[in-house]
Amino acid sequence: MRLDERCVVECLATGACPDCSLPRFTANRTVLNWIGKYVSRELPTPLVDYFEKSRVALAMAAAEGDNHLVLVNAPFCTLTGYTPDDVIGRNCRMLQRDAPNVEPRARLREFLERPNQPNVRTPIVNFRKDGTPFVNLLYMSRLQSIDGQTRYFFASQFDVSRSQPDLLAEYEEQLTSTIGRLVPIAGDAGIVVEGTLLTIANSAAIVAQAKMMLADLESAPGA
Ligand SMILES: Cc1cc2nc3c(=O)[nH]c(=O)nc-3n(C[C@H](O)[C@H](O)[C@H](O)COP(=O)(O)O)c2cc1C
Repeated sequence: MRLDERCVVECLATGACPDCSLPRFTANRTVLNWIGKYVSRELPTPLVDYFEKSRVALAMAAAEGDNHLVLVNAPFCTLTGYTPDDVIGRNCRMLQRDAPNVEPRARLREFLERPNQPNVRTPIVNFRKDGTPFVNLLYMSRLQSIDGQTRYFFASQFDVSRSQPDLLAEYEEQLTSTIGRLVPIAGDAGIVVEGTLLTIANSAAIVAQAKMMLADLESAPGA
């Protein structure tokens, strides 16, 4: 069976791709999961290995379509309570449930739509699998091919609402070193990673604000 990204798009769009032997199917979650796993296998092995061994929560999503997740690591699963099978093939906005997140989502969309913007950072309200809310300090960057095409989006998540300024500073150091090590590993596979991290100017203020947001969420009617 020959299967490439064009086949997948054809199959999902029309259910009748002439180039592969897949039966007709609809874009249900099983199929998207399967695509996610397929795409993650295409990622360079050293990159996947490094990603999986990182101590900070990391997620990688496809650049095409609805940016479905192709890879998440163990700290991501510990943070969110979801397993890779729960999330691979789905868009990470599932963590937001029905939180409006108007401003952070606009900032994230702006980043996704602007190929020249190297990265973005924003706190955003998310929920663990068990429904517990948290304020996720989300970092997003892109992995590009040498010709400047975005191949994947790369993200790191941190619960800033149940943290302390010194833990946030420690996370910042770990994320900086994770990205720093990722640059040459991805470079060997012809992938360019934006190496600079938008550092948090005032971690005490970010943590305090996130705790206030969390307290508001927890005291909201129906929480
Ligand atoms: C690799 C990657 C990881 C992401 N991780 C999260 C996340 O942990 N939490 C979250 O709320 N949104 C996350 N997002 C952002 C959402 O997927 C989505 O881009 C955002 O909600 C803006 O788009 P929308 O308004 O269409 O939902 C991630 C996106 C990408 C590409």
